[in-house]
Amino acid sequence: MKEIKKVGVLGGGLMGSGIAQVSAAAGFPTTVREVSDALCAKSRQSIEKSLAKGIERGKTTEAARDRTLKNLRFVTDLNQLADSDLFIEAVVEDLAVKNGLWSQLNGIASPDAIFASNTSSLTIIAMAAASGRPDRMLGLHFFNPVPSMKLVEVVRTITTSEETEQRAIEFVRALGKEPIRAKDSSGFVVNLLLIPYMLDAIKALESNVAALLNLLDLRYTGSSPAGLILAGDKTLTKKVLAFHGIQSAKFATMYRGQSDWVGDISFPLLVKPPQEDASLGITQKSVVNDVKELLDVISSTQREYQSPVLVEEFIDGREFYVGVIGNSKVEALPIVELDFSKFPAGLPKIASWEAKWGDDGDEKGAQFEGTQSIFPTDLPEDLATKIQQVAIDSFQALRLRDYARIDIRVTPEGEVYVIEANPNCYLEQKSEFARAAQKSGLGYPALIARIVELASARYAR
Ligand SMILES: Nc1ncnc2c1ncn2[C@@H]1O[C@H](COP(=O)(O)OP(=O)(O)O)[C@@H](O)[C@H]1O
Ligand SMILES: [Mg+2]
Repeated sequence: MKEIKKVGVLGGGLMGSGIAQVSAAAGFPTTVREVSDALCAKSRQSIEKSLAKGIERGKTTEAARDRTLKNLRFVTDLNQLADSDLFIEAVVEDLAVKNGLWSQLNGIASPDAIFASNTSSLTIIAMAAASGRPDRMLGLHFFNPVPSMKLVEVVRTITTSEETEQRAIEFVRALGKEPIRAKDSSGFVVNLLLIPYMLDAIKALESNVAALLNLLDLRYTGSSPAGLILAGDKTLTKKVLAFHGIQSAKFATMYRGQSDWVGDISFPLLVKPPQEDASLGITQKSVVNDVKELLDVISSTQREYQSPVLVEEFIDGREFYVGVIGNSKVEALPIVELDFSKFPAGLPKIASWEAKWGDDGDEKGAQFEGTQSIFPTDLPEDLATKIQQVAIDSFQALRLRDYARIDIRVTPEGEVYVIEANPNCYLEQKSEFARAAQKSGLGYPALIARIVELASARYAR
């Protein structure tokens, strides 16, 4: 763990000067950056005044004052802070100003330097992306007057690394102050997106949760209730995609003997519950080749899920997952393929429940072991571009937001079919989405910061 030796303080106002004073007093060479010489002089004077008061009250000595002043430098040029190991920002409470400063500093500072904001009203995570180092970005919240207030809040976000937090805590202790861990007051319900997958029961309520958050005026990442409802219903998804000229498998829906929609479909077919995911209700039996099998599966699926069933043409071909990220500018991540080359012979190649989770949900069994996600290297460029464009078009047609994963199948003839859209797709570090982001150069903390940044833009004043 790299030691903090030199400190850069951005802003020489009341808080910045106070922070610089305690940092210099603790023996850290400290550079204060202000925007003009006059403001530099003002910062120095306020520190001198505070030290003089300290001597008067017997809290410090003349020798200590001299040592403190010797550790201080005041500059207007940001470049002169380049060798700092820790930057503490105490400029105006304006996110755009702070973020402008962070991205500028990111180009100047050493890669392992820590960025800390003293903000008391803004959220740290909103600065994570601009910092270019979301894992080394945190909050260090000092209280006024800094020299006499013992507590310092150390604000870790979901992207801050443990090491960064630890280094910051040690720095606070070295100042002779008491670090207290605090949560980023972002109000972001980022975990609406991470948790449902661990709690299947909530998944079905996802759009309700989002709607409730809207009503409560709480912020969250990801799609709106409307997008979640649309994409959460595979039949609706297909209808909307069809309107936009995006191809998905031909289909029929049935409920209690009634058919809602019947296209011109032919065997083999795949039967699934239209409102589930995680391959619930999808097994090898779901692929049917004749009317008898079809009727059997329709009735068992209906019994189990008490919902209409979706009957689709089985698209025999390769399976791809395309992560999509963005809002006004939407981008597709590198394509991930579900490789079936080691799949048990004789079984239809589908990501059945058994393939996703193992025969007994234990990550074991021939189907689980016979599938793996890879980055395909043999895709012709025009096909890859087409697949990514279909993913982007689907994302936009369904009015999704921030990020989603679109599941696609491609026939040997190069016909591209959308299987389904997953807003709020799996996001954990080993998920297809995160790995694709990583492949495109967006590391995990940066990815999460990016998603939060996309969402924050919605709530910007
Ligand atoms: N029309 C289809 N043709 C071929 N395979 C399909 C079709 N629909 C689904 N599958 C297979 O079943 C898997 C799960 O279906 P999907 O609709 O994506 O459900 P889930 O929401 O549970 O992921 C897909 O990944 C794919 O392998
Ligand atoms: Mg799927």
